[in-house]
Amino acid sequence: MKKIFNIVGARPNFMKIAPIHRLMESSAILSPVLVHTGQHYDEKMSRFFFEDLQMPEPHVYLGVGSGSHAEQTGKVMIALEQEMMKQQPDLVVVVGDVNSTLAASLVASKLHIPVAHVEAGLRSGDRTMPEEINRICTDAVSNFLFVSEPSGLEHLKAEGMDNDKVHFVGNVMIDSLLLNLNRLNGVDVLSRLNVSPGGFALVTLHRPSNVDQESSLRMILDAFEHIQKDMPIIFPIHPRTRKMLDSLGLETRVKAMTNLMLLDPLGYLDFLALMKNARLVLTDSGGIQEETTVLGIQCLTLRPNTERPVTITEGTNRLVELTAEGIVSGYHEALENPKKGRIPELWDGKAAGRIVDVLEKAFT
Ligand code: UD1
Repeated sequence: MKKIFNIVGARPNFMKIAPIHRLMESSAILSPVLVHTGQHYDEKMSRFFFEDLQMPEPHVYLGVGSGSHAEQTGKVMIALEQEMMKQQPDLVVVVGDVNSTLAASLVASKLHIPVAHVEAGLRSGDRTMPEEINRICTDAVSNFLFVSEPSGLEHLKAEGMDNDKVHFVGNVMIDSLLLNLNRLNGVDVLSRLNVSPGGFALVTLHRPSNVDQESSLRMILDAFEHIQKDMPIIFPIHPRTRKMLDSLGLETRVKAMTNLMLLDPLGYLDFLALMKNARLVLTDSGGIQEETTVLGIQCLTLRPNTERPVTITEGTNRLVELTAEGIVSGYHEALENPKKGRIPELWDGKAAGRIVDVLEKAFT
């Protein structure tokens, strides 16, 4: 059996690794070890997701926690190097673009352990985003590049990647989405929040470029102030954003918006039920652009660019101009001219199966 380290660290990693890890558990060739770096450590950002996604307890928990980029990445690297030297995995699987992804791929490649990057080739073209640096560097040292959308293939080609490493497999996040849509029956989040299907806007916000600068955060709140007069807003708030609201003294302003519900971060199934039933979603997340495209829900992305352009060319996503007026007019435009959208190629719930097939073949 080949020992495979499946690395997770932050919230958006969990739903990407879950279907891969599950399939590997029944493989006759691959023996998966679930490694959690502890980048996200709050129950609501981590443990509740493991429960919702029916994932096993991590075999290894490194508990690195928060810190500056260098601190966080460095702590993951030091802890993972020890673990990899001790356990000698045959392959390390990393997903997405968070600091834990980069740290794990650097450590593995320097120990001459092959790396598989799931969600390879995505590029926003914006090197001020920490995630863009993580994507570029992770791809550069990976041996298997698993691509979710055609733009990824183009970028990897343009960067001169060896074609043999590149595999167009589709989107593992959508594997989790489709699987868990069948599990929403007992989820009562709409009635708990007293909202009806199609009758509310759902918001998420955590990008440093939006929430770490007072002027951006204030501008976005101006837009929300306007929108909530028209439609209830549900806003499960990321810890980073909560911290910024607190430190800027803006929480009272948000609480004064009577039609905006500020909530703690929600679990996977609650959030999925809300997304599926929202009239529209306003977000700066990467994955939510993809999930709304599959659900056929209008998505306004509060960013100047996206590394997931297929959600715009084929899906229900649109970028909005980052001014209060731009966001509000994007909101009205989405209501008046909803995008119909279609599901991108290979976003069919079988991406993890394709990945595991490639890896099993590589090891036989
Ligand atoms: C990270 C990822 C981002 C991803 C996001 C999803 C990087 C560079 N960024 O951003 O790509 O979209 O996760 O959520 O890896 N915090 C808590 N509890 C937690 C986790 C974080 O309170 O469980 C707070 C800490 O104060 C921390 C801050 O949030 O300083 C930011 O956390 P961090 O992991 O550094 O980045 P995110 O903004 O969550």
